[in-house]
Amino acid sequence: MQIGAVKRVRLGELPTPLQEMANLEKVLGGPRLFIKRDDLTGLGTGGNKLRKLEYALAEAMELGATAVVTTGAVQSNHAQLTTAAANRLGMKTFLILKGDKPHQPSGNLFLDRLLGVEEIRYVAVPSDSGKEEFESLLQNEVDRLMAELRKRGEVPYYIPNGCKAIHGALGYAGCVYEIVGQLRAMNLAPNYIVTACGTSGTQTGLVLGSILYGQGEIKVLGMSVSEKRDKL
Ligand SMILES: Cc1ncc(COP(=O)(O)O)c(C=O)c1O
Repeated sequence: MQIGAVKRVRLGELPTPLQEMANLEKVLGGPRLFIKRDDLTGLGTGGNKLRKLEYALAEAMELGATAVVTTGAVQSNHAQLTTAAANRLGMKTFLILKGDKPHQPSGNLFLDRLLGVEEIRYVAVPSDSGKEEFESLLQNEVDRLMAELRKRGEVPYYIPNGCKAIHGALGYAGCVYEIVGQLRAMNLAPNYIVTACGTSGTQTGLVLGSILYGQGEIKVLGMSVSEKRDKL
């Protein structure tokens, strides 16, 4: 599924399965509940970032990028999946992670290294700095690394943590297209889509997809996993 003329590169095994949660329905006494298995996208350990990366990395390729720079927490799923995706497309990955370098790499950090990440830099979180100050420290490190890479002859492409909102929106509008089609094959139509909401790219895409493919019948409910309602 292609939205307009925006470039997309295929990275995942899509569509992902849509499974009915029969036991949970029984416990709750209805309604019918389905889960979209975006953990089964077939690259790295899966997750919602893949649909976004299909657009972000298509843009990177169009710009002739040789390297991808991104940020995230030390155990970031986004950083791990970006490394896997950039690998597949023959680009190097440089990670700037928030926090101290752990003594032993474990979990996603171990996977980043196994996937052959080119370099990892750490930006320690100062105990006395506010969120905005820390974000500007992080951005300075990104700018420094981008400049260094350009000097070395690389063409670096920067992906903000969780990807640009536009790439999330395109990726998750496509997800609604899949959901509507999968339910239509069962003679059903969705009336609610519930999602986790961090940067809100996923939710924005679900809203866009609901408008494009849901005939005004789908409500999208986001559950914030970080900020309070007034900050989102
Ligand atoms: C599984 C999953 N879905 C959705 C989200 C929301 O992502 P975002 O709002 O950053 O697009 C997250 C992250 O917070 C997540 O881990």
